[in-house]
Amino acid sequence: MGRMDNRVVCITGAARNQGRSHAVRLAEEGADIIALDICRSLTTVDMYPGATAADLEETARQVRELGRRVVTHVVDVRDADALDTAMAQGAADLGRLDVVVANAGIFTRSAAIDMPVAMWQEMIDVNLTGAWHTARSGIRLMREHGNGGSVIIISSGAGFKGAANAIHYTAAKHAVVGLARALAIEAAPDDIRVNTLHPTNVATTMIQNDATYQMFRPDLENPSMQDALDGFASINVLPLPWIEPRDVSNALLWLVSDEARYVTGIAMPVDAGLSVK
Ligand SMILES: NC(=O)c1ccc[n+]([C@@H]2O[C@H](COP(=O)([O-])OP(=O)(O)OC[C@H]3O[C@@H](n4cnc5c(N)ncnc54)[C@H](O)[C@@H]3O)[C@@H](O)[C@H]2O)c1
Repeated sequence: MGRMDNRVVCITGAARNQGRSHAVRLAEEGADIIALDICRSLTTVDMYPGATAADLEETARQVRELGRRVVTHVVDVRDADALDTAMAQGAADLGRLDVVVANAGIFTRSAAIDMPVAMWQEMIDVNLTGAWHTARSGIRLMREHGNGGSVIIISSGAGFKGAANAIHYTAAKHAVVGLARALAIEAAPDDIRVNTLHPTNVATTMIQNDATYQMFRPDLENPSMQDALDGFASINVLPLPWIEPRDVSNALLWLVSDEARYVTGIAMPVDAGLSVK
């Protein structure tokens, strides 16, 4: 018996890292997976490379290896119609939809007063509007199926606190908390729960890159990951630079499972104490 037996879960940004980890962890507990990702770099994101179609296929392979069913679609969460179609197709192929995880996101960095408008706009379009599109498509389908359901939006420690040189990321990650709270009220009559998850640094491509090491060690010309460890750790209370994707997946698993059946409208930290510092 798994905690997600007979459930179908749709995850955006599922090609790699946290999205892949969520797909695999929920599949381990019996879920079938609709895995969506844009599978390319975005215009303003120059700190790290984008995911690829091969990455998305690797997620699917890992889910299949667990004996679960999986469908994949290359889709941009900014494209509401395409997202509607992909999610509906996935739900039709797998027979239902129970959980939607709005995990797709980007990170870019600039001092606020120098930030190009295009950088601001792409962040808001992906990390905020994309989360709304994802929740909207999912809630429509879950309402149609009539079995209730659960929506998780992946926010961040930057959904609780200001992150310097990332006003756009901070604004979007705060905004999804409001989005989730209001949606939780609207979706509740259909027994659909809506919550946000707030990880601290997670060991993924988004932060494990030279540009981020430079951010923590502006005093060095070419800082290594090792050089940046104290900087990463400085935001946490527990003495560690980052958590692993699986730490976020385990919290997600609880939040979408029946064990959390009366939990809705919360902003749940998985943050090594970041929010109390
Ligand atoms: N890594 C961290 O330290 C950290 C901390 C807190 C929150 N987060 C959040 O966790 C989530 C996952 O990030 P990650 O760390 O796994 O980084 P990642 O870059 O490996 O994963 C993000 C995924 O989203 C996909 N994506 C980006 N834009 C998309 C779009 N428009 N449409 C569809 N897919 C798109 C990417 O292709 C990628 O596969 C993000 O929302 C991020 O903001 C990350």
